[in-house]
Amino acid sequence: FQVPPAVNEPIKSYAPGTPERAELKKMLEELRSQELDIPMFIGGEEIRTGNTKRIHPPHEIAHTLGHYHQGDETHVHMAIDAALKARKQWVNLSWEHRAAIFLKAADLLAGPYRQLINAATMLGQSKNAFQAEIDSACELADFFRFNVQYMTEIYAGQPESAPGIWDRVEYRPLEGFVFALTPFNFTSIAGNLQTAPAMMGNVTVWKPSKTAVYSAYFLMKLFKEAGVPDGVINLVYASGPVAAKEIFSHPDFAGFHFTGSTGVFQSTWKAIGDNIAKYKTYPRIVGETGGKDYILAHKSCDAKGVATAIVRGAFEYQGQKCSAASRAYMPASRWEEIFGYVKEQMAEVKMGPPEDFSNFVNAVIDETSFDLLAGAIDEAKESNEAKVILGGGHDKSVGYFIEPTIILTTNPKYRTMEEELFGPVLTIYVYDDNKFEETMDILDSTSIYALTGCIFAQDRYIIEKATKRLVDTAGNFYINDKPTGAVVGQQPFGGSRGSGTNDKAGSAINLMRWVSPRTIKENF
Ligand code: ALA
Repeated sequence: FQVPPAVNEPIKSYAPGTPERAELKKMLEELRSQELDIPMFIGGEEIRTGNTKRIHPPHEIAHTLGHYHQGDETHVHMAIDAALKARKQWVNLSWEHRAAIFLKAADLLAGPYRQLINAATMLGQSKNAFQAEIDSACELADFFRFNVQYMTEIYAGQPESAPGIWDRVEYRPLEGFVFALTPFNFTSIAGNLQTAPAMMGNVTVWKPSKTAVYSAYFLMKLFKEAGVPDGVINLVYASGPVAAKEIFSHPDFAGFHFTGSTGVFQSTWKAIGDNIAKYKTYPRIVGETGGKDYILAHKSCDAKGVATAIVRGAFEYQGQKCSAASRAYMPASRWEEIFGYVKEQMAEVKMGPPEDFSNFVNAVIDETSFDLLAGAIDEAKESNEAKVILGGGHDKSVGYFIEPTIILTTNPKYRTMEEELFGPVLTIYVYDDNKFEETMDILDSTSIYALTGCIFAQDRYIIEKATKRLVDTAGNFYINDKPTGAVVGQQPFGGSRGSGTNDKAGSAINLMRWVSPRTIKENF
């Protein structure tokens, strides 16, 4: 069979007067008017424990969106059992039927679920309409459609056979279940980490970030309506340590698909290592972790382009994209001009709740994040190595609002040049134009991460030099573009070093991690 060729879901504009804007506004009002009671989903059953936690928009702490039922070790265990039970049938279902489920999920998402998932992301994760659209609706539909295509390409990959022999490879699912631990910052990633393994015939236990349970609940409804059979994806809300203890000591644990912090990933890897002799098979470990993504400008750069990359690359979604720029290296001779354009563009930027579509910047995800960011900004205000040259305000009286902030430092290894903060704070080091090569050395040695980065230059020799010199500093490297906004099917996404296993989300590389191939040789 051939699947329909994958194409990227067209992005809607949500400009005033468009039908999508009216539909989204209506959906936001509808969701805001309800207090949802959100169960776990285990083996297709809705599970309520009575131990409920309140969900509120990060930008409006006083408003209640709903309550979710927190589980414990019993529920994690139930989810594993349900997954293993479902596995018996799911592993034997022909791939075209799995493909059909996820192609249907893409169509549902692009159609009737579009505004529901967008609105849930806007309210639950404080994301503006445009950012919700490119993430929740488009990127997730793209993951489903392109992964289906990559799946068929993987299955088509077969060895040569000598005369009288038929060699073939079966791309079997893993022997066990996969645990998906998903982040808050992209609903698309939260919807990809369990479905990519499931598409390849695996069963999953899914634990979303506690700050994104709201959109996870609607994603689960989407999966159900698309026809994902009971038990193939099990959604549990349990604390990290409780889930980890049950899952990583289980003999059928066969894979971990993660996006989140480097610290959690490393401690998880250790827990898996400690249990390694218990497992039937070596588990696949796939993770995208931290970042300290950069913008490097050369004196030959287009100043306006750099300014746009700073504003969009560092401040869209409050700097909470894993790909967001959080450090920048600017040539002394061009910095004033670049900063002039930045101030011009920032004069247009408004901050507030996403329900008001004119707000470009919304709240950061929670109080822990707010306190970390506010602390770093206040420290910079007091430092003699740094000063705050843009923004710097913060206020958590209504929601967790951090003003887009630029810190200028004289020390290229200043704390906020090195440390991941995950928010709308960009630290800039202005270098002597004649020290471009030394600056690249500093850039390379400053951070433990290697997720995204970009070079702005018009001089082709410099572009070539930077591309080669910075080879290990970013899994996604951009030339004359911001470091955010990788599109599925166009720029496979992922980093190395402290940023992850670089198994490129939205690619055949990632899907190959979820198969355990069997080679068969038959003599005629
Ligand atoms: N697609 C997201 C980005 O590159 C992860 O920003």
